Amino acid sequence: MNTPTLITERLILRKFTENDVGALYQILSDEEVNTFLPWFPLKSMEQARSFYEERYAAKYAQPQAYAYAICLQKDNEPIGYINVDMEVHHDFGYGLRKEFWHQGIVTEAGKALIAQVKQDGLPYITATHDRNNPRSGGVMRNVGMHYQYSYEEQWQPKNKLVTFRMYQLNLDGNEERVYKKYWDTSAVHFVETDLKSTLSPGMKTGGQQRRIWENER
Ligand SMILES: CC(C)(COP(=O)(O)OP(=O)(O)OC[C@H]1O[C@@H](n2cnc3c(N)ncnc32)[C@H](O)[C@@H]1OP(=O)(O)O)[C@@H](O)C(=O)NCCC(=O)NCCS
Repeated sequence: MNTPTLITERLILRKFTENDVGALYQILSDEEVNTFLPWFPLKSMEQARSFYEERYAAKYAQPQAYAYAICLQKDNEPIGYINVDMEVHHDFGYGLRKEFWHQGIVTEAGKALIAQVKQDGLPYITATHDRNNPRSGGVMRNVGMHYQYSYEEQWQPKNKLVTFRMYQLNLDGNEERVYKKYWDTSAVHFVETDLKSTLSPGMKTGGQQRRIWENER
């Protein structure tokens, strides 16, 4: 399967096409939307076209990919994106134009996408967010993902030190699996015990324990 169109109550999730380069530019040029994304804001339509070619058209040429435009049903115009990567981390990522925030749109899109990848046999998905971006963690929890651990990374290409929280959802019934690569490759890693309802076997406790949830709301 490669990005089969999905219809939800309010949304159409579909492939980006070359006609969507302008819409992609609108999503990806916004400085605030970009703050927590792993690339710099786009500055021109030309950059948007390259982004489309490299990160969408190339994926659509693969046998399997999940790289969606989020569109409202009323006009089928992309207002955001949502992806599940086919690399071993099966990273779940998303972004939405600011004027559409706070309406549960990415949660609605995420649930439909996860149902699709589960049906197609992906064993799990993971997602990470900067702990200064707790709303993204809200989406992860809303779609049923569970916090696993936190770790520091000198994040590229923005070259800044970030503490990430890693969430996972196992889709194949193997509830104990934890994707540990970020834990293993980061010198600073810990479990924020107040975010974790049940500790997975193999994940050490200890390290920092902070009451983060209340402070963020
Ligand atoms: C993060 C983002 C995708 C959320 O999109 P959205 O459609 O507004 O999100 P949803 O409404 O589906 O879900 C967020 C909800 O999670 C819930 N939530 C749960 N825990 C939360 C917490 N600790 N803090 C804030 N919200 C939380 C809230 O209900 C929140 O909705 P609200 O802000 O309206 O109260 C959007 O803000 C965005 O595009 N941000 C910039 C790009 C980005 O950060 N991408 C993720 C990188 S990891």
